Amino acid sequence: MDLQKLETTARELVTPGQGILAADESHGTITKRFEAVGIESTEETRRDYREMLFTTEGIGEFLSGVILFDETIRQEASDGRLLSKVLEDQGVIPGIKVDMSTVAMPLSPEEKYTQGLDGLAGRLEEYVGMGARFTKWRAVITIKDEELPTRQCIEANARALALYAAFCQEAGLVPIVEPEVLIDGDHSIERCYEVTEATLRSTFGALYEHAVELTGMLLKPNMVISGKEAERQAGVEEVARMTVECLKRSVPAAVPGIAFLSGGQSQLQATQHLNAMNQMYDDLPWQLSFSYARALQEQPMEIWGGDSSKVSEAQKAFYHRAKMNGAARSGSYSDDMEEQAA
Ligand code: 13P
Repeated sequence: MDLQKLETTARELVTPGQGILAADESHGTITKRFEAVGIESTEETRRDYREMLFTTEGIGEFLSGVILFDETIRQEASDGRLLSKVLEDQGVIPGIKVDMSTVAMPLSPEEKYTQGLDGLAGRLEEYVGMGARFTKWRAVITIKDEELPTRQCIEANARALALYAAFCQEAGLVPIVEPEVLIDGDHSIERCYEVTEATLRSTFGALYEHAVELTGMLLKPNMVISGKEAERQAGVEEVARMTVECLKRSVPAAVPGIAFLSGGQSQLQATQHLNAMNQMYDDLPWQLSFSYARALQEQPMEIWGGDSSKVSEAQKAFYHRAKMNGAARSGSYSDDMEEQAA
């Protein structure tokens, strides 16, 4: 294993002022998001949409990496360059989602287990040949009252994440380890804290058992936040504090960076929360960054709407959102930066 190469890539992905765009939605997910704004989902519309995002001028200033889906890493832009080459030409590192999505957890059907370990080494080799330098695997943990998650769901997913990470490091790819505790439900922020801490401890226990090098990986967790339907919604500072306190107790200092998912927060909340964390804490061992899908894409997708005459307007919105999150990386974002642009 070339640890130095892994460490260099991991650090590059959490370069101050920059973060990651997750553009790795599966066909099912992107179809749902497209349909919500009236876009038909075809191989061509998915390509055009992602080309629109990736060719946004100057995006490399705020994006260190983009996570691609298997279909996208094989597609070409309209000028004949591979979409992964378009990213490289922007100074952005191409990455790839390598899990094969979730199935119902056996004997606990309300929970999910992420599959994709079989044949993984062979698929990674192919992606290395296509220029990918990092990967993502997402596990999903569901909260339901005191009943869920079950211990076996947390542990089975932690084990799979650790094996995935080990396969990736062996192949020379930086693994992004993503155990997502879902925002869905009416649980309190305290319950989210408790489940997130248990999930992260179990994940890092498994990573240790599988000898994964912590300096050559990144963590992509949820923020510690109130359930979407909870009566009391925690404020920005509370989310920032609870999230960092939870991470301090469960993430080893050797991990170079933590890149949050947005997980159903509004685009403004996702920026405000990250900003508050970086403003309130200046002595953390890891970079606190973003790896957002919805919080970066919501507005540009809606503006684009499948209409080629809207490309530059959509790119402007995408650039703005990336810039705001770039500012949140150093705690220098403020609400009036939104108004200035409007
Ligand atoms: P969201 O930011 O929309 O949660 O997506 C991030 C991601 O990559 C989920 O796997």
